[in-house]
Amino acid sequence: MNTALPATHFAISSRLPVPSRRSVVQWMAVAALGCAAVGSVCAAAATPIIIQFSHVVKPDTAKGKAALRFKQLAEARTGGRVRVEVYPDSQLYKDREELDALRLGAVQMLAPSLSKLAGLGGDDFLALDLPFLFKDRAAYRAVVDGPAGAALLKKLEPRGIKGLTFWDNGFKVFTANRPLQTVADFKGLRIRVQASKVLVAQMRALGSVAPVSPLIDVRADLQAGKLDGQENTPTNIQTQGLHEVQSHLTISNHGYLAYAVIVNQLFWEKLPADIRANLESAMRDATSYENSIAEADNLKALDRLTSGGQLITHTITPQEAAQWRTAMQPVYREARQWISPEMLAALPLPQGAPP
Ligand code: SIN
Repeated sequence: MNTALPATHFAISSRLPVPSRRSVVQWMAVAALGCAAVGSVCAAAATPIIIQFSHVVKPDTAKGKAALRFKQLAEARTGGRVRVEVYPDSQLYKDREELDALRLGAVQMLAPSLSKLAGLGGDDFLALDLPFLFKDRAAYRAVVDGPAGAALLKKLEPRGIKGLTFWDNGFKVFTANRPLQTVADFKGLRIRVQASKVLVAQMRALGSVAPVSPLIDVRADLQAGKLDGQENTPTNIQTQGLHEVQSHLTISNHGYLAYAVIVNQLFWEKLPADIRANLESAMRDATSYENSIAEADNLKALDRLTSGGQLITHTITPQEAAQWRTAMQPVYREARQWISPEMLAALPLPQGAPP
């Protein structure tokens, strides 16, 4: 079956309107029918299938590099029948917008953080944001690589989204313009978090206000004094230049930031089987690559952030960590109303978490 797709059909920018769902579905019908059945569409026979892959971080991050690795592998393995256009750094869409764009078919692939997926896949995604849940990367991987991870991806399907795989980033640290060492240090601060009820509850438990905003706006908001601080991984802090507008960094490793690679389900299912198989194989290899570099990239970024002299670094002691955990206990109580018993059962709940 020939599945020529007009290359320009989805070539939109955030300044242009998103194509209507009707036009996406009509286009997919053409793709499914093939050239023989649709006459003039055959003129586009040599035109590759376009996958627009939008994300919100810089190219020089594990996610950014893996998106480019996927592009390279996908294009090579499909012999040029697929072209992957990677749009990093919110070039096409900011955080929430890109999820809407994927559902509408305006882009075909994203890799949003799990924190942002609760809005699409339901509150079980919030479980991965629980503070001090994972003692190390292996503990996080055990959840997403097991049945709970597969169940999470499945929860996206009623919204027309297919979850392909999980990509790592790593443990988060805090930055601010004052030392954040004890729970009392957080009182009254405005600390930016991603769009997650658990992250908002976490900051509330520490006595802060937690504005939610897109990543691309964080640096300007810190600089303008609209925010006092934020939590993120060292690679995101460094590549977004957040260290240039903050004076203190606290190594707390209090939460884990990770991603799911997701696609528009209708688009994915309408692909010819051989093409989809090649794309799946490209994604498997891009995933191994991403997950093999994320931790080391964060260690390198942390080293640069803390040895560059720009940020005064604090490390919380085990006693202070215990104090933070106690202060954050209400988050676990609150989250139990949102997260399913099945998901809770799959988590390595820390000692002392409320029953
Ligand atoms: C990301 O890493 O994709 C976004 C993280 C954030 O919004 O802080």
